[in-house]
Amino acid sequence: MSVNKEIKRVTTHIIQEMKNRGEKISMLTAYDYSMAAIVDGAGIDVILVGDSASNVMAGHETTLPITLDQMIYHASSVVRAASRALVVVDLPFGSYQGNSKEALSSAIRIMKESGAHAVKLEGGVEISESISRILTAGIPVCGHLGLTPQSIYKFGTYSVRAKQEAEAQKLKDDAQKLQDLGCFAVVLEKIPAALAAEVSANLHIPTIGIGAGPHCDGQVLVVHDMLGINKEFKPRFLRQYANLHEVMSDAITHYVNDVKNKDFPNEKEQY
Ligand code: KIV
Repeated sequence: MSVNKEIKRVTTHIIQEMKNRGEKISMLTAYDYSMAAIVDGAGIDVILVGDSASNVMAGHETTLPITLDQMIYHASSVVRAASRALVVVDLPFGSYQGNSKEALSSAIRIMKESGAHAVKLEGGVEISESISRILTAGIPVCGHLGLTPQSIYKFGTYSVRAKQEAEAQKLKDDAQKLQDLGCFAVVLEKIPAALAAEVSANLHIPTIGIGAGPHCDGQVLVVHDMLGINKEFKPRFLRQYANLHEVMSDAITHYVNDVKNKDFPNEKEQY
């Protein structure tokens, strides 16, 4: 199955229909206009303006430092490029954990100032009040369970989550809660494939997996990782579709040499 060109704009209803008919949902991150134009043009269903921008774009070790203003800047750049994809934006750390009023005002800022179509929040039952309040304002919400990088200092490691029964049960309860609240989808990050399969079968809303096996209703990757722009990050779940680090670095070396050797610009490359 390839890209459905008949869809003019992917909506939350369309991704629900994809789950209903067994069509897998494709999702990738993007943080800027040029990359989003490529990702959207290639037919992705959902673009996630992830707070992984904190790592990938800004070079921070964790997702915690990125601010709401910075997320809005990234999201508005992506929205200008995305003519087909549904654009979902992460609420960054500190913009929704305080109370539900603050969560709603952060979500409203994202929707109003970036033009995005939905927001994503990390967590389960603990943030149910915030999720409800955002949903009441008519803003679609995507949940995020399993490895939730905004809680890295609580976990202490980026290893696979919910391997033990108690944590697996909490994840199943949280997933059910997110669906009951009215979330339109749930991201499942780095959990055992069998658990993700069970959650995906039990929920009627779509699950989107990253390191959560093949039985999720969709898959998401960080675009810089799957294009091989980042050299260092190679977890087992990642499939690298290109080696852009090498391609770009070769091109830049070539350019540097051409400038040094007075080979660029030539007669045709001047006025
Ligand atoms: O921020 C992000 O890129 C994410 C994905 C890894 C799901 O949340």
